[in-house]
Amino acid sequence: MRNEGIVELYAPRHTLIGKDSISKIPYFLRKVGAKKALVVTDAGLVKIGTVAKITDELQREGVPYALFDGVLPNPTIGIVEAALEVYRASGCDAIIAIGGGSPIDVAKAVSILCANGGDIRDYNGVNKSKKHGAAIIAVNTTAGTGSEVTRAYVVTDEQTKTKMLMVDTNCLAFLAIDDPMLMLGMPPALTAATGMDALTHAIEAYICNVHTPYTDALALQAIRLVAQSLRNAVNDGSNIRARTDMCWAEYMAGLAFSNAGLGLVHGIAHQLGGYYNIPHGLANAIMLPRVLEFNRPHCMDSLSRVAQALGEPCDHLSAHEASQKAIDAVRSLAADIQIPKLCETKFSMDDLDILAEHTLLDTATATNIVTPTADEVKTILAKTYFEGLVLQTLQQR
Ligand SMILES: [Fe+2]
Repeated sequence: MRNEGIVELYAPRHTLIGKDSISKIPYFLRKVGAKKALVVTDAGLVKIGTVAKITDELQREGVPYALFDGVLPNPTIGIVEAALEVYRASGCDAIIAIGGGSPIDVAKAVSILCANGGDIRDYNGVNKSKKHGAAIIAVNTTAGTGSEVTRAYVVTDEQTKTKMLMVDTNCLAFLAIDDPMLMLGMPPALTAATGMDALTHAIEAYICNVHTPYTDALALQAIRLVAQSLRNAVNDGSNIRARTDMCWAEYMAGLAFSNAGLGLVHGIAHQLGGYYNIPHGLANAIMLPRVLEFNRPHCMDSLSRVAQALGEPCDHLSAHEASQKAIDAVRSLAADIQIPKLCETKFSMDDLDILAEHTLLDTATATNIVTPTADEVKTILAKTYFEGLVLQTLQQR
């Protein structure tokens, strides 16, 4: 089902993709008229030297900056307020976010607050701010989340223990950067999980119920790039060509899903992340094949084209046969890059009811090609769990 209404498209104002893109940050800060930038990141990225690669560029060009490295996974209101405090106290007028989803989410929240005032809770929902936020340079360090591309961010309210989802065009990045040189040191397991997140974005955007010709083109090319390069990026982290392909794949998949929608894989993965802290990309990778099986009767033609994009020969196959090839190809990719099984995580069959209930309420589930029932979600989870258990038992023999 295609979106036939008026379609508004979103993208960062500027984008740089490719080796040594970070060297252009001072130029773009001057371009936006920024005098001082707040670097928003996490302590881990400071420790492994990723942040220094960017701050060295700033120092070389004499660009003043302040550092906030207190971002944690699933950032809270307290973290946003602490970053905002440093931004104001240091007299900053732009933000450089360095990291995966969490630092970029905090940067978006700070950007909206410093331009609009008030409390971050005021912006929970869709387009709640009036003014465009302070300029954000979003430097992505993992080829997966797509958060440098999107107009959405998530902040956890630590008092109510709820996650607030803000969707706001005023927080779109002034500049998005995907520099493969920053990803060379990513360990294989993280490369695998974030790469599968990108693949899931592309496949879900392609088969969701609000896709457009624009998002279709982006999604299919992202799927081709993942099929060509994810195994190589996992097996040889220093393969710059594979890393660059994955930068393109994650960026294009990010544009695809942020201009279309996601689906039930993300709807379930969000719960697995919330309940068991299973990393987001991993949760998607684990759920993707079974959810595609569930969706398959409603999107055989689309899945046939996904199979072709994944490199499967489908010339003489029916849509029925080719769509199954897409699922088989996803399964073999996940196996090749050693994605763990659901039974190897903290997931418990005892939680099926609550997981299914929350999956049905998740925003991502709303754009799935077919609306699932709670029983169907429970069946998908149970099949995924027992399938992993059987495979594990066979492998141990
Ligand atoms: Fe995702």
